[in-house]
Amino acid sequence: MSTVSSTITNKMQAPDDKAMPVTEDKVMPVTEAKPEQTVLEEGVTVGTPFADDPKFKLRDVEVFYGETQAIKNISLDVARNEVIAFIGPSGCGKSTFLRCLNRMNDSIDSCRIKGSLLLDGQNIYDSKRDVVELRARVGMVFQKPNPFPKSIYDNVAYGPRIHGLANRKSDLDDIVENSLRKAGLWNEVKDRLDAMATGMSGGQQQRLCIARAIAVSPEVVLMDEPCSALDPIATARIEELITEMSESYTIVIVTHSMQQAARVSNRTAYFHMGHLVEVNDTSKVFTTPEHELTESYITGRFG
Ligand SMILES: Nc1ncnc2c1ncn2[C@@H]1O[C@H](COP(=O)(O)OP(=O)(O)OP(=O)(O)O)[C@@H](O)[C@H]1O
Ligand SMILES: [Mg+2]
Repeated sequence: MSTVSSTITNKMQAPDDKAMPVTEDKVMPVTEAKPEQTVLEEGVTVGTPFADDPKFKLRDVEVFYGETQAIKNISLDVARNEVIAFIGPSGCGKSTFLRCLNRMNDSIDSCRIKGSLLLDGQNIYDSKRDVVELRARVGMVFQKPNPFPKSIYDNVAYGPRIHGLANRKSDLDDIVENSLRKAGLWNEVKDRLDAMATGMSGGQQQRLCIARAIAVSPEVVLMDEPCSALDPIATARIEELITEMSESYTIVIVTHSMQQAARVSNRTAYFHMGHLVEVNDTSKVFTTPEHELTESYITGRFG
């Protein structure tokens, strides 16, 4: 086949790619795209990757695992109190880039990060920076709920205790209750705060992890596919929560669900093989994407 889309599809097969083989009848006609446009230039992102007065100012970010480069010269601002969604095919670097924002890659020995990454104008990678404090400011919720094998109460109280946020038991009780309320879980668990968190349903566990993340009053919450292990009802609850949280937090969410990105985010960033191809208002990305690769992805031609 000589169509552009088939060329792209063939190039996109990541080792764990779940993409369906593109057959002739599934290929949508690409009328305006030219093959040369699919050659990605490092550091070039179409759309609106920058913001005034950003929460994160990220410039020329490159990430290597050993000799392999996973992130290729990405520059992006994350605006204050926005919800930005990271989308793109499996293996394109979404989680790697997300983890740079609170130094979660530090624990991976082979991982090296280059470039300038600023949080409120301060270098995230400053050798003098307290990483525990950074992660209190920039919390994280993972794909698989990971409650500690402790009680519901102790899970939420964990961060405030470490950071000395409550002097009295009643203060800690208030933080636990407020965090569980914000996470939409209070009514379900208020009578069993001493029960083991691991005995909760998956959706409850994920909301507990969100409560645990917000118990230390973070400024930013990073979420890496927070709903991928949840049913549609639990997913809807978490999405509602993200929308509520967006009033007070900056949220960066990685998702494979384009409907989810469309529902919860203000801007969407499309990643592709370590490049940041396009950043635009979410409505634009899903209606009139600027880059042909974004269009191919959102129309299901690969990924
Ligand atoms: N700990 C690691 N060690 C070595 N290589 C890694 C590591 N983590 C990720 N990579 C590689 O970096 C690249 C980007 O991976 P990453 O997990 O960031 O992609 P992703 O977009 O989050 O994918 P997915 O949608 O499947 O979660 C891939 O080639 C992956 O194999
Ligand atoms: Mg990932």
